[in-house]
Formats: sequence, structure tokens, C-alpha cells
Amino acid sequence: MKREIVLLPGDGIGQEIMESAKSVLNTVAANFGHQFIFHEHAIGGTAIDQYQTPLPETTIKACKGSDAVLLGAVGGEKWDSLPGDQRPEKGLLGIRKALDLFANLRPIKGFAPLLHASPLKQEIIEGSDILIIRELTGGLYFGEPKSRVEDGNAAVDTLYYSRQEMERIIDKSFQTAQKRRKKLTSVDKANVLESSRLWREIVEEKSKSYPDVEVNHLLVDAAAMKLITQPNQFDVIVTENLFGDILSDEASVLTGSLGMLPSASIRTDGVGLYEPVHGSAPDIAGLGIANPLGMILSTALMLRQSFDMQEEADEIEKAVQETLDQGYHTPDLSIKDGIKVGTKEMTDTVIGNLSSNSVSNCICNS
Ligand code: NAD
Ligand code: IPM
Ligand code: MN
Repeated sequence: MKREIVLLPGDGIGQEIMESAKSVLNTVAANFGHQFIFHEHAIGGTAIDQYQTPLPETTIKACKGSDAVLLGAVGGEKWDSLPGDQRPEKGLLGIRKALDLFANLRPIKGFAPLLHASPLKQEIIEGSDILIIRELTGGLYFGEPKSRVEDGNAAVDTLYYSRQEMERIIDKSFQTAQKRRKKLTSVDKANVLESSRLWREIVEEKSKSYPDVEVNHLLVDAAAMKLITQPNQFDVIVTENLFGDILSDEASVLTGSLGMLPSASIRTDGVGLYEPVHGSAPDIAGLGIANPLGMILSTALMLRQSFDMQEEADEIEKAVQETLDQGYHTPDLSIKDGIKVGTKEMTDTVIGNLSSNSVSNCICNS
């Protein structure tokens, strides 16, 4: 199969982990007889430096015309003093909005060899398998007005959600829960926020159409606590944009590192965008030690969701599992034993495992 993929490496470690994604996809293409054609475009700080905007029109056009988009990360100190609407992050928000990617799926599932890498007790983490579904194109991130007011002495951000925006993400979450363990936790702040009260009403209304899904509501403050004290109580969590952002970084602690989490940003149909949950990690950028697994696992999500290449995606996930089983890990994973490696060696090891998986596969099939 031939597929056109737009690559948006972005800034900091985004550039480094995108190299890993490319090598992994090239290997998958060779092993399975696919043709993945990469088109690299600028976003974030890199785009500001080159084109004076974090999201050039050419980037938007290329993404819209592609079969899928892979993104590294954006942001960095160099651009931190720019006005809000000119910052690198605005490029990321802009491409999510331009592609109408309202559903951000963030799976959080620990790998057995990393149980000790988390500061949480092993018995707490064991068995946890969570999918956070974060609304991605509304809420405080996009509501207007958003500006300095009163001669710059006050500031306003607007938390706005239309019924339609809430309904589509809630429907998506019920449908996703139906395909998993049929348990949906809706997280809000309905004791304070009007938007949360409407959200909760809609969840209740919608639950009548999905009687096989068990629903419960949690306030976000309590959810933050339960996520790390009873993580295996959760199946699918659905929440608004900002809560989902914060809770997913928190949940990454279960896996041993923020560098482990992949994500898929999708709509009902159309182009999907796949990116790790973490940022550009300026503190380690350029050192060659970034954990590439969140990015590599995002390529698996892309193959699964956008290209319906289930076997190929399974191969990548199995190769990651094997690499961790062999003890390989980057320094962000605090493991005493095992083999500490940098980004390139970690990637090469995954690729080595990938090849052997696929070769055995080919023998089985022949
Ligand atoms: P961050 O996610 O970049 O880093 C947080 C911590 O986790 C750092 O100590 C970093 O070294 C570590 N870390 C993150 N990813 C890692 C990886 N793959 N391997 C090893 N360690 C990793 O968050 P931050 O430091 O708060 O933000 C830095 C910049 O990134 C900011 O400009 C922010 O706006 C941006 N950001 C971008 C995205 C994105 O592009 N999707 C997401 C979050 C933050
Ligand atoms: C993420 C990031 C972004 C967000 C920033 C960089 C705009 O934190 O993808 O989680 O808040 O959505
Ligand atoms: Mn975030």
C-alpha cells in the first residue's frame, strides 16, 4: 500500500524522535511491502525561524492533502517571550483546529519490565489499562475573548463549549468504551463550572443510547487523586481539553515516564494526527537521550487508526515490548539494572526486534 505521510518534527527532541519514527516506518514498509512517502514540513519554533509564523499555510495544505500526520513536539525557551498568538504552541493548536481533530486518544498502559520504573507501588499499577479521551478543539484553549484587558492589568481566557462540541466527544467516548471494558468515567468540575454542568447533563442523556456502558462521574480534583491511587478502576476517561491535558501527564507516571505515552488526534473521518504526549523537553534536547518510544508507539497508532494496518501496528508494539523485556531503556526510566541507551540505540534495538518479528512472520505465512 502507498501512503503519503506528513512529518512535522517541530522543536527540541521533536527533531530527534522523528528520526526514530522514520526509521521504524521505513523498516515496516520494507517488511510488509508498503510504500510510505514522507513529506517534511515546518511547525512551531522552527517554522517561526524560517517563515515568521508557527503554522505556515504550506504546512496546513500539506497536512490536509496527506493520508496522516506525525508530529514530534513544539516549543522552547527561545520563543517563550513571543505574544501568545505567535508562539510555537499556537502552531500545534492551529493544526489541530484546522484538521478539526476534536478527539485526542491517550492510551496509558504499563509495560511489565517498567513496573519498577514508576515511583508508585507495583501492586497499585498492576493491571491498569486506561484510555484518556481528551476533547481537543474547544474549551479554555480556544474560547474568545482571550486577551489582556484593563490596560494589561488583567487577563481573560474563556471556557466555552457548544452542545454539539460536547455531544461529539461524548458519543465518541461511549462508542470507544463499547469496544473496550464498557466502563466510562466522565471527569468534570460540575460543582463549580457551568460548562461542566451542561457536560454532565449530556453524558446522562447520551448514556441512555449506550445502555451496555457503565458510566460514572468524577470531579477532576478527586480524579487526579484516584488516577494514581486506584488506576486499575478506570477504563475510558472522557474529559474536556485542559483537564485531559493535565491528567494525561499525571497518568504517565504509571508507565514510568512521560516519554512512553503515544496519542492519536482524530475526527470521525479524515486525516488523523499522531504525536507523543510529551513536549520538546528543552532540558535534554540535543543530548541524544530522548525516549523515542512515545513517538514510535504513535506510529503504531497511526498504522492502526488511519491505515487499518493492524498486523503492522501489532509488530511495532511487540518490538517495543521485546526491547523493554531485553532491559533496554533510556535514562528517563529510572531502572537500576538493564541496559541504559540513547535515542538511536533504543530505536535500532526496536528495529532489530521488528525485523526478526516480521521475518518469522513471513516464514509462517509462506
Ligand atoms: P516536556 O514534556 O517537554 O518535558 C517535561 C519533562 O519530561 C522534562 O524533564 C523532559 O526532559 C521529560 N521528557 C519529556 N519527554 C521526554 C522523552 N521523550 N524522553 C525523556 N524525557 C522526556 O514539558 P515542559 O518541559 O513542560 O515543556 C517544554 C516545552 O514543550 C514547552 O515549550 C511546552 O510548551 C512544549 N510542549 C509541547 C508539547 C507538544 O508539542 N505536544 C507538549 C507539551 C509541552
Ligand atoms: C499537549 C501539549 C499542548 C497542549 C501544548 C503544547 C499546546 O501540552 O499536547 O499535551 O496543551 O495541548
Ligand atoms: Mn500536555
